[in-house]
Amino acid sequence: MSNQIQPVRGMNDVLAGDIAVWQFVERAATELLTAYGYEEMRVPVLEQTQLFKRAIGEFTDVVEKEMYTFTDTGGDSLTLRPEATAGMVRAAISNGLLRGARLKVWCIGPMFRHEKPQKGRYRQFHQVDVEAIGFAGPDVDIELIALTARLWRKLGVGRVKLQINSLGTVESRRAYRELLQEYFRAHRGELDVDSLRRLEGNPLRILDSKNADMQALIAAAPLLTEHLDAESAEHFAALRAGLDALAIPYAVNPRLVRGLDYYSRTVFEWTTDALGSQDAVCSGGRYDGLISQLGGDATPAIGFAMGVERVVELVRQVGTASAARPPDIYVIAQGDVALRAALVAAEQLREALPQRVVHVNLGGGNFKAQFRRADKSGASFALVIGDEEIARGMASWKALRGESPQRQLDLNDLPAQVEAAVRDQSAALTN
Ligand code: HAM
Repeated sequence: MSNQIQPVRGMNDVLAGDIAVWQFVERAATELLTAYGYEEMRVPVLEQTQLFKRAIGEFTDVVEKEMYTFTDTGGDSLTLRPEATAGMVRAAISNGLLRGARLKVWCIGPMFRHEKPQKGRYRQFHQVDVEAIGFAGPDVDIELIALTARLWRKLGVGRVKLQINSLGTVESRRAYRELLQEYFRAHRGELDVDSLRRLEGNPLRILDSKNADMQALIAAAPLLTEHLDAESAEHFAALRAGLDALAIPYAVNPRLVRGLDYYSRTVFEWTTDALGSQDAVCSGGRYDGLISQLGGDATPAIGFAMGVERVVELVRQVGTASAARPPDIYVIAQGDVALRAALVAAEQLREALPQRVVHVNLGGGNFKAQFRRADKSGASFALVIGDEEIARGMASWKALRGESPQRQLDLNDLPAQVEAAVRDQSAALTN
């Protein structure tokens, strides 16, 4: 026991028994994103540390305490991506994709944050990340939210609620930030340690505090939605009207500020009451200032990311994903000659009937043991090849679920005979 290597804390293996739900979620997201005109991109999991510091902000929890940062042997400071937006934007700039163009792109993959692990919060987790770059909105804001609402329907997930807010432009946010600083400075004595630390660097994050003792103070703080610039207020009104027109229910949450610094105007978050304290399943917003901040031409953009582990758990709870597909045919063979014939027969079936799942019994065993494995695999049919059958150029065919007489199939015409047998026996079972 003691010399076994332990997994890294907060990093999970996804085992074969769980993969069907993951693939169901990934397939639904891929199909939907394709249908809305988004294209997949793949970007590295490692980036220069500076990218995240500049994009996410020095005074955020992510940059201050959650990044996996190291110096490589060449002396470069690199960081395992804590989120995907910075890397996607970096890739768009580095590859010259933004010159006058618009991009609708997405990616999926692992992200890394050194947070305290608990149910639904991991140090390696996965996101489906979606970015629409070059669009000022609010049309794209509305469509992106509609896409997420459709995804929940497609996945059969019902217990999710949408919250929206507007953070205004960088300028109006700056003015609001000063107002907020003034307010909290006047109540310095009531601030907890975390909020005191955030007061000068990132006072908006104080609004996010979960500390019960701080809630009354936060509730009385000036509201961001009341200090929006005229254009942002108009943008927000259009967003709300669009969601109303699409009959997508939402709540305006003036305290929704998000944990990353690059947002402006629209922010949104889908939360659930089905997962305990880690309740955000999908969140995002507009980041009109980020691209110029990272050295590109000023370009408006919006995006969101969905936490795959959390959505997988929601889907598991409602049971909409079908289980892993069992084999249609399990090929049983005993003896060297029969095993070779079985491997040939299985390849013929896979060639001619690519829609069928065919397993060959590997690793030997007597007929009894092989039938036991066939049964355990959940296969519908067994194709049995023994020396006696080969001598006659035949194989035995047996239904493993339900009563059905055994058949003899001609090895020289196997795919057609198998297909006919499957059809007849499935029809017999449904009659
Ligand atoms: P975020 O809110 O930091 O936003 O993360 C998005 C989602 O990732 C969360 O709603 C949650 O479902 C999931 N998530 C975050 N941290 C963890 C964790 N430790 N364990 C499990 N799941 C987690 C972003 O990352 C932005 N880049 C989203 C975005 C894209 N904004 C614009 N474009």
